[in-house]
Amino acid sequence: MAQSKSITQAKKLLKEAKKVCVLTGAGISAESGIKTFRDAGGLWEDHAVEDVATPEGFTRDPKLVWRFYNARRKSADVAAPNAAHLTLARLELAKQRQSKQKSYPVLGHGEGNGNGNGNGNGTGHHKSAVFTLLTQNIDGLHQQAGSTNVVELHGSIWKVRCTKCGLITTDHPIELPILPKCEACSALLRPHVVWFGENLESEILEKAEAAALACDLFLVIGTSAIVHPAASYPLLAAQRKVPVIEINLENTPVTAVSAVTLLGKAGELLPKLVSE
Ligand code: APR
Repeated sequence: MAQSKSITQAKKLLKEAKKVCVLTGAGISAESGIKTFRDAGGLWEDHAVEDVATPEGFTRDPKLVWRFYNARRKSADVAAPNAAHLTLARLELAKQRQSKQKSYPVLGHGEGNGNGNGNGNGTGHHKSAVFTLLTQNIDGLHQQAGSTNVVELHGSIWKVRCTKCGLITTDHPIELPILPKCEACSALLRPHVVWFGENLESEILEKAEAAALACDLFLVIGTSAIVHPAASYPLLAAQRKVPVIEINLENTPVTAVSAVTLLGKAGELLPKLVSE
């Protein structure tokens, strides 16, 4: 299909959708100057993943891991949201307005909107938001752009967690001291991010799955779609015959289930899909 036709089709799908679920990956922040993981010259190219992004690597050499995360904090700090982040924030607002006009049920934002008590099955029996942004990114650029209902699947580079008492804190200098200590119990702090071999928090999993199961349109942007469970959410939607729109520089495992695939830069394509 010619790209202009695909853009028209994607635009129509987005306009008509009542509940949108979005999954973003490192590609959406590439135009903000943040390295992706698997593209040429990507973050993993200079580092062995098992050294800097696994619990075992941290136990072996926490100084190396903290140097790596300090460098990531510095590059995230100087980055600004790009047109793709800003468009998603605009889309969230548009969907909220649209739902108010039609008095569509909306829940508030942020964590804990689900039944969140550990007893629920998290499969859409509770009302879900009209717009949910699932991101694998830890850079905080979606929130900086104005998105509010953001589910950080892999944590946040701006949060740190005590390895002993579990206290999560945010107010730290951009560059933390190598081997930072917990203010409550003096044990070693670690980045509050999900490393390879670690599980996602159950509340996060519930919220993400609920959004994937409740949406009537799924938008996937800038992810290689090979890391699970993140990559399974668009597939869940597609299984329910929900249209999936994908934006990426290249085809991915999601392409096969996509109603529309747009090949190109997110910062250039996404603004074409959402009217001012
Ligand atoms: N616009 C759209 N897509 C882009 C752009 C761009 N400007 N630049 C790169 N991409 C695409 C690439 O084609 C690639 O498919 O973004 C994707 C980036 O893939 P990855 O580097 O694998 O990043 P991601 O999918 O977010 O990785 C998932 O893996 O290493 C872990 O925890 C880490 O959250 C990360 C997870």
